[in-house]
Amino acid sequence: ALPPAVTIYEVGPRDGLQNESAIVSLDDKVEFITRLVAAGLPIVEATSFVHPKWVPQLADAADLVTRLPLDGPTPLPVLVPNERGLDRALEAGCSHIAIFGSATETFARKNLNSTLDSQFAMFEPVVSRARDAGLDVRAYVSMCFGDPWEGDVPIEQVVTTGTRLLDLGATQLSIGDTIGVGTAGHVGALIEAFDAAGVGVDRLAMHLHDTYGQALANAYAALRHGITTFDASAGGLGGCPYAESATGNLATEDLVWLLTGLGIEHGVDLDALVRTSVWMSGVLGKEPASAVVRALR
Ligand code: HMG
Ligand code: MG
Repeated sequence: ALPPAVTIYEVGPRDGLQNESAIVSLDDKVEFITRLVAAGLPIVEATSFVHPKWVPQLADAADLVTRLPLDGPTPLPVLVPNERGLDRALEAGCSHIAIFGSATETFARKNLNSTLDSQFAMFEPVVSRARDAGLDVRAYVSMCFGDPWEGDVPIEQVVTTGTRLLDLGATQLSIGDTIGVGTAGHVGALIEAFDAAGVGVDRLAMHLHDTYGQALANAYAALRHGITTFDASAGGLGGCPYAESATGNLATEDLVWLLTGLGIEHGVDLDALVRTSVWMSGVLGKEPASAVVRALR
């Protein structure tokens, strides 16, 4: 049976924009987030408190969040890799953060300047201090279906890493197909392996990229396994600058179209969302990746 309702966790302003080299103005970022919230997205990841040299597009994180309704009904989480990032997020008044770990050695080095094992020591004080301060903490685990440098990633390694991240005190684990190589059967096997390790679908989210055109099929497989939180990016923007061959995220509009067709509640105004993505594609000067946006504009 399929779930009656799902939560769409919008990542366009963070995952979508982090990969764009032309810097988007602060005003346009504020407008993007404001429009996504107005379109009914129940949670919108706003930006990252990472090193500004690592992701120049998001160097304005502190200025951005001061212009957002942080105390409003829509959570606006931010990525935080380490204690320095947490200090900045706390100072800016954020109440929802997300840490982001790697299931592989190579990506831990390339994305975090860490190792697979030492990333937990970096995250541990972040999560404990954040929880003490009353913040909600989500954890991502990347490279769950394949890694551009290491190839196949064993399911056992993903489950071990993801479980360790949750055990630090995160409330939700988002399973990342960073480079979009996952397939529907693999999605099912991974969810079942987490379940066997004691992590049920109520604590999991799926974070799909669409490099191989499988994101929507993978989302459907995850729905059939009972997943009810899906990360998606307006217009299909996205990618990770530290992951070779990563392209756009599952487009929010494509996901909304699927869910509506299945009669699954999502709360998003598709027309308002499409208008937002068409506007953002003008800001960025490029065609929207989303097939649904191109069909409806
Ligand atoms: P590092 O160079 O090892 O940092 O980078 P460090 O701890 O050695 O510190 C060096 C200097 O940086 C120090 O300054 C720190 O204060 C400063 P100095 O004393 O030399 O003047 N510094 C910072 N400044 C501002 N904010 C900070 C910060 N931290 C240190 N947070 C670090 C380590 C983790 C910071 C770096 O590797 C980094 O910023 N990485 C982020 C990369 C990134 O954002 N990747 C994209 C997001 S992940 C993703 O997209 C995947 C996802 O979508 C899921 C999926 O698809 O799978 C989530
Ligand atoms: Mg991503």
